[in-house]
Amino acid sequence: MRRHRDQVRMSTPDPTDVHPAWLPDEAWRAIGVRRILVCGEGTLVDTVQAEVERAADRYGGTARRNPTEAGLPPADLVLALTDALPPDSSPATEPGPPETLTATATATTTAVATATAQLATATAQLGESLGVEGFALARHAGVTVVLADAPAGLLYGLFELVRLGEAAFGPTHPVRVHRPVMARRMLDHWDNVDVHPVMGQVERGYAGGSIFWHDGRPRGDVARVTAYARLLAACGINAVSVNNVNVHATEARLLTERLDDVVDLADLLRPYAIRVHLAVTFAAPMVLGGLPTADPLDQAVRDWWAETTARVYARIPDFGGYLVKADSEGQPGPFSYGRDHADGANLLAEALAPYGGVVHWRAFVYNHRQDWRDRSTDRARAAYDHFAPLDGRFRDNVIVQVKHGPIDFQTREPVSPVIAAMPGTRLAVEFQVTQEYTGQQKHVCYLAPWWSEILRFAPWGDDGRTVADVAADGGGLVAVSNVGDDEFWTGHPLAQANLYAFGRLCWNPRLRPQEVLDEWIDLTFAPDARVDPELLRRTLHEIMDDSWRTYERYTAPLGVGFMVRPGHHYGPDVDGYEYTPWGTYHFADRDGVGVDRTRATGTGFTGQYPPPWSEQYESIDTCPDELLLFFHHVPYGHLLHCGSTVIQHIYDTHFEGVREVEAMCRRWEWLARLVDPAVHARVTERLAEQVRCAREWCDQVNAYFHRKSGIPDAHGRALH
Ligand code: GCU
Repeated sequence: MRRHRDQVRMSTPDPTDVHPAWLPDEAWRAIGVRRILVCGEGTLVDTVQAEVERAADRYGGTARRNPTEAGLPPADLVLALTDALPPDSSPATEPGPPETLTATATATTTAVATATAQLATATAQLGESLGVEGFALARHAGVTVVLADAPAGLLYGLFELVRLGEAAFGPTHPVRVHRPVMARRMLDHWDNVDVHPVMGQVERGYAGGSIFWHDGRPRGDVARVTAYARLLAACGINAVSVNNVNVHATEARLLTERLDDVVDLADLLRPYAIRVHLAVTFAAPMVLGGLPTADPLDQAVRDWWAETTARVYARIPDFGGYLVKADSEGQPGPFSYGRDHADGANLLAEALAPYGGVVHWRAFVYNHRQDWRDRSTDRARAAYDHFAPLDGRFRDNVIVQVKHGPIDFQTREPVSPVIAAMPGTRLAVEFQVTQEYTGQQKHVCYLAPWWSEILRFAPWGDDGRTVADVAADGGGLVAVSNVGDDEFWTGHPLAQANLYAFGRLCWNPRLRPQEVLDEWIDLTFAPDARVDPELLRRTLHEIMDDSWRTYERYTAPLGVGFMVRPGHHYGPDVDGYEYTPWGTYHFADRDGVGVDRTRATGTGFTGQYPPPWSEQYESIDTCPDELLLFFHHVPYGHLLHCGSTVIQHIYDTHFEGVREVEAMCRRWEWLARLVDPAVHARVTERLAEQVRCAREWCDQVNAYFHRKSGIPDAHGRALH
């Protein structure tokens, strides 16, 4: 890849063999037909310039940069850094001329001056500037103006224009200020450099190989990585960790002797405002540095991290930092030396601090060698038990990265109590875009409704702060990427929507999942919809809006989780994990099912929540139906709030889930003429598998509970 490095800065991607996802050429038409003016300097402004030039070349517009003559030339679109505007475009006090379709030079100057003046008023009212990533968008006198204080803002402003399309060139409107809610919007790649004998090239990857690595080497696909960076910037992602959190021997060396490989990726991602992070092994001083220990309090260990980190920054000045999975599922960590997670995280934070880097330290720590006979140990408790007592001990540049639920990215879990337990620590909330437990990109499962529910959850009660607030004030949002070298990026073409939605919810967690889906549909499909775009949009909503709940209906019931095939986690196996050391049990017997996590009679997990949730979850009367079996062990005849018994609910939802998938298939058939045949064929093939698998889930779960309980289906359906 190195030989391409000089081309990296301005290379525009042309991966002809890859699906354009939400950036098809057509999405650039509204920009490309116009006279565009870009003002500013720097790598990211170069990127903006390259993008608009490409669009203008294709659609007949023009793109100019930093005009030298006095005043501004005529333009329909101005993208400018506020400090790069010629003095003539200083704030106007007079109203501009009436709107015209083809703006004159005067109109351009007036529009920019008006936007600048309005921006000054808006930021004064807000009491905050645009910041390094914010931008302002206005339209006046037939000119659309994007202003930013810093280059990244201009890039995000450009992609907002792409999203808006022709609507960006409609009626006059005053300045609208856009700033990301989360400063950190990160994707973690669980990509291995070497193919792992069990986990393959990408751990929990369902879209082929890695776009970064191939069989022990960098993949070297400049076009693909650049196209990825561009897609990520277009949905707002600004950080990527490029290797698996389970750091094996080869991957460990990315930190030292294979740093060049990381430098190359950083060079490709930088033009799209994406910083590179690296997952490192806590044992690095031993496995890479030859030291006898990795004890975080040992001076030689501290020196090793400081020197190693200095070498990283010498090559990658904007390096983001380290990501660490320690003392978890066999990864090394500070416990070996009698130290705790704060000691471990602070060691790396100290090394990163001089350069402004951060350490993402994962809170996914539990005993994966539990004795299933031991009913007192509860995996759900583990993260809180390990981390809550350490609150206040982490350095400022430590971000404790917490999975959104207490177990492991299940289709339904309560929000992790850790999120409410560490007010003195910067927390990032971790999601899983890769669909490990949600259908592995063979099933349609639009996850934004689930994430949105989590982000809006108020851990201290309805009047309090939300999960999104905690993340915004702390370390932002992180998710495991679902991308691979597949021609549609994500295996299932509709799974692209999850990646897009994750980025958009990071930018603004208040966006409604349906509106995000609309954006994605319009960008991805609309250009192709020669016939009836409304039908296309409506049908995709019918298929996708509720697809997460459909998936929930035909899989593990009422929040109990798992019931998947051990190891690969695909398809049903009700008792697959029941007598294993992994701590994920449902405890079904002839009388009932569920995990008693109450303080009164169970593991006491409910006590990890602040009120009102500690009370709400504790009581069987107030626990929400969808989480009942996560918190309580109940008889099959227990009456749910919805009016059904637990056993009848299991039967009904499973049959219903299958029916819903069958309906998805019929709806997708209607779209045959409206979408790209290759996309249509791939989704058709995946839906066939989804129907098969949903039936299997339904039949196994229903048969299992029928056999355990002996209770027939009230509607007399076959239970096998
Ligand atoms: C899950 C997943 C593992 C992964 C782990 C993690 O348990 O199955 O493959 O390593 O999460 O988040 O670290």
